[in-house]
This record gives sequence, structure tokens and C-alpha cells, in this order.
Amino acid sequence: MRPRHLISTDDLSNEDVQYILQQAAQLLPMARKEVVTDMLGGAIMASLFFEPSTRTRFSFTSAMMRLGGQVISDSSMATTSSVTKGETYQDTARMVSTFADAIVVRHPELKAIEELAEGSSVPVINAGAGADTHPTQALLDLFTIIWEKESIDGLTIGLVGDLKYSRVLHSQIRLFSRYSNLKFLLVAPSKKLALPKEYEELITERGHAFKVVDSLEEALPEMDVVSMTRFQKERFGKEKVAKNFCLDAKMMKHVKEDAIVIAPLPRCDEMPPEIDDDPRCKYFDQVQYGVAVRMGILKWALGVE
Ligand code: NCD
Repeated sequence: MRPRHLISTDDLSNEDVQYILQQAAQLLPMARKEVVTDMLGGAIMASLFFEPSTRTRFSFTSAMMRLGGQVISDSSMATTSSVTKGETYQDTARMVSTFADAIVVRHPELKAIEELAEGSSVPVINAGAGADTHPTQALLDLFTIIWEKESIDGLTIGLVGDLKYSRVLHSQIRLFSRYSNLKFLLVAPSKKLALPKEYEELITERGHAFKVVDSLEEALPEMDVVSMTRFQKERFGKEKVAKNFCLDAKMMKHVKEDAIVIAPLPRCDEMPPEIDDDPRCKYFDQVQYGVAVRMGILKWALGVE
């Protein structure tokens, strides 16, 4: 039987998404260190990172350990693993799945993660694939929206920043578009960073609306959710965020009173710390939600009720 891989949110049925969100809500007290559990006692998660990470890697590690499981981890696989000696991803996965019960992997190429899944006898979870997808971040963003706004249906969601290379925004579109009656406002600071056509098509195919807007200031008052991303400069070189694309205190005046601001972090120039204490800004709360959501994902992947 194929293990429960999570390579794209498309690997999840609507019931799976529902299960993960419900689990996350129930597991939040454990992520908040209020309650201790041993639900995944005896299980081992392997964490293989071929690209930099702080939050996602520690978030998965914390999630597994708070469920009573253990973690084996390599944060610099690109330079230390046997892949550098020419070992295939299939063989690497075959080895690691002997040592562990689930594999969490980040890699600049989606193809490599797919190959790992082919070779693995245990679930492989995509923790970020190049500019392509980042399904567990999208799940935690969805959790945040539903937790904070009760429902995602009918909302206007602003996708702001690097729409071309942000894997987070791409996964958000894939996942959020399962719900009803959404409007996406696409705000990229330059044409070079515009959303790839395939995602515009996906939005339309699934019956939602989108509008390309050049001015952040003009788009903000319409948004229920402001989804911010940094320039993914490791994918295309240096670029500074133009001042009129920074969500600073002055720009926050254009955000609705009941809107929320989400971001996967890290941030660069696009969100100065001066807005952090604004109650609409949820990006630091999200770090804790992320542990709970990843606890839910691990339970789903391992098939533990
Ligand atoms: C994101 C990522 O790695 O894609 N960060 C994260 O997972 N928390 C976003 C980013 O790096 O900009």
C-alpha cells in the first residue's frame, strides 16, 4: 500500500483537510505546552533539509516531540548526505525509511521530493519544494484564517509580494480554492513577479474571481486576509521592496479593522517590526498554530487516531 505522502495539498481529500484542522484545534493546548501527551511514543520522524529553514524544521521537530515521538535530523543534506556521492533519492529514501516512520523533506526541486516518495516505504511530507509548493504552510495558513475569522468562504484574500516564486502563495491558491466564492487580489510589486498563468487559470476553473492590482494602498481596504510574502531573492537575485509595497504603520491604516495579516516568515523589508503589536497581525501567533497543525499532519500521515 502507498504510504500517506503529502507532496501537494492535492494529495488530501476534503475529509483529510477537515481531519487535520480538527486535530490541530484539539492539539493546540499541547503545542501551547499546557498539556503533555505521548500519543506518538516510540515513533521516529526523519527530517531531511536540503535548503535553509528555521520555523518549518523546528516546528515539525517540536510537533513530533510534543506528541512523544523522536526525531533524527539533518539540516544540511545538500552538503553532508550520500546524495553528494551520487546516491539516488530513491535509495536515500529506502535507507531513511528503514530508520524512521515518517520523512519530512525540503528541497529546491519538487522532482527530488517525488523521487524520495517513490523510494520510501513510510510517508514523505513536503516541507517546501523550490518555488513550487509548501503544503504544510498552506494548511497552517488555512487553520489561521478559520481560527481567526471562523470561515474562509466568501472572503477577499490579498496575495501580496513575490507571486511568481513564493511556493507558499502557490500552495495557498491550491488549498484555499477548494472553498467557495473567494476573491483573490493579486498585488505584485513588478510584472516580473506576477502570478504564473497556471494559478490564475486554477482560480478561474474552480469558480473564484481574481483581480490584478498595481497599488497596495488601493487594494488593502478590500481585503479580509492580507497574505504577505518576502521577495524570494535566493531564486532570482537581489531586489529591494519599493516603499509603497511595505506594510508599515502608515499602510496599515488602509487595512480593515476586522482583517488579518498572515505571513510565513522570515520577513525582510516588507513588514517592519513597528506593526508587530497590531492585533490584526497574526504572523507570530501562526508559529504556534503551525506546531499544532503539524501535529495533526503527523497523526494523519501515521494513521494514528
Ligand atoms: C517560507 C518558505 O520557506 O517558503 N518560510 C517558511 O516555511 N516559514 C517562506 C519564505 O521563505 O519566504
